[in-house]
Amino acid sequence: MTPIEIGDLALSQGKATLQEQLFHAIRGKIVAHLWPLGGKLPSTRKMAGELALSRNTVIAAYEQLAAEGYIESRRSSGFYVAVELPDHYLSSQIPVTKPTSSVSATDINKLFAPGVPDLKQFPLSKWQRMLQRHATRVSLLGNQEIQGSLALRQALTNYLASSRSVSCHPKRIIITSGAQQALYIALNAVLEQGDNVLMEQPGYAQMSKVVALNGFGFQDLRVVEREGFELNDVFCSNAKALYVTPSNQYPMGTTLNTEQRLQLVEWAAQEKRWIIEDDYDSEFQFAHRPYTSLQGLASEMGGDEQVIYIGSFSKVMFNGLRLGYMVVPESIVEACLAVKDATSGDTPTHTQEALADFINEGDLLRHIRKMRRLYKLKHQTMSEAIQRHFANRVEIISQAAGLHITLKWTGGIEEDTWVERAKAADIIMRPMNYYEQKPHERTWRSVILGFGNVSLEEIEPNIQRLAELFGSKEVIQV
Ligand SMILES: Cc1ncc(COP(=O)(O)O)c(C=O)c1O
Repeated sequence: MTPIEIGDLALSQGKATLQEQLFHAIRGKIVAHLWPLGGKLPSTRKMAGELALSRNTVIAAYEQLAAEGYIESRRSSGFYVAVELPDHYLSSQIPVTKPTSSVSATDINKLFAPGVPDLKQFPLSKWQRMLQRHATRVSLLGNQEIQGSLALRQALTNYLASSRSVSCHPKRIIITSGAQQALYIALNAVLEQGDNVLMEQPGYAQMSKVVALNGFGFQDLRVVEREGFELNDVFCSNAKALYVTPSNQYPMGTTLNTEQRLQLVEWAAQEKRWIIEDDYDSEFQFAHRPYTSLQGLASEMGGDEQVIYIGSFSKVMFNGLRLGYMVVPESIVEACLAVKDATSGDTPTHTQEALADFINEGDLLRHIRKMRRLYKLKHQTMSEAIQRHFANRVEIISQAAGLHITLKWTGGIEEDTWVERAKAADIIMRPMNYYEQKPHERTWRSVILGFGNVSLEEIEPNIQRLAELFGSKEVIQV
């Protein structure tokens, strides 16, 4: 039984009597399904008080509604929205609007959907205890600092220094709603209308959306499989900001080595350009130790004034947490806070406090270590299954890192056709063209398969299924 809130129920102020006006107002709510079937109406006394009517008026309106079948009276309990609408309304019921998106919430996280970590492995009971610790703190209930919880910023300072050599101080960290908000803040804090952003192509689609939404110009930085981008293309560009995913270029899966990182840092410092370093997947490198962050190298070289470092908990914990952070030079802290203030205000408090504990008590590092081992095994299992079922029909071009594998082939099935066939078989993959700003002029085809949220046992049969859907008749050369 759902108690019904009167909410915005209002009388029509027409010529009808008050009783009729109330009858029509309530009937309107019921036939529009705004008051749920079985929901309990406020008592006649409460309704009369709320709408400044006499109780008799309300009783008369309720009785009329009951007589016509819109509500029913239950002895010594009250009035309820009738289970069935009166007959004459059945044919003209307002249709329930269904979501129009072709991708439902379940699809987003399904087998091979990129960007989703292994949700079943997250230590939920520990997390629940940490949330509970803070649930009754009255001081967390009011408005909070825009910059984010100090406890979390302190915890991050230590974590980032030891794991990513990021040089920072809590006053240079801004807590955000995932990397997504950090990207939005970064661009809006340092760019002006008319400025260009140099962005890896193919590249992270969520960043393209931020650039487009804000009307900044795009410049393509072409990424070549296994090699990455040409540094010269950066040096020749007049873009004010460079967006990079240096640990695991998304989605081509290349990485920037220390020499390349140093050159970029030098370019930014000398030319006064911004580097927006999206360090996603730095925690999950399986073939080599992670390289030092550009931000860390820049500060070792004597200044990180031009680097904005962005991180997220979406993959190391879970996407629904919606927490990320940015480490920015002191000179732009205020500008970033102004953007955050104007767009979202402060960040939910309890999750920030629980996360600070999760980091300080070593649970984040423990979870990352455990997941690194598991993802490495999943990556290996995926690679072997692909080799077994595709032989040389497709090639893996991404490095051994992160939570996805990028496949490439030439000739044969179109990438969109394969993705559609897979979807019909309940398997989600992303075509490479999803990550391209302009219609592609490639001679090769490619899809991205996430393996984060797939169990080890699911890999083999589903890769086999994908190989069948790929079609064996086509002539394919890698
Ligand atoms: C390149 C890249 N950056 C950042 C993120 C994390 O984004 P968010 O923190 O908004 O979930 C992802 C997640 O898939 C990503 O692929």
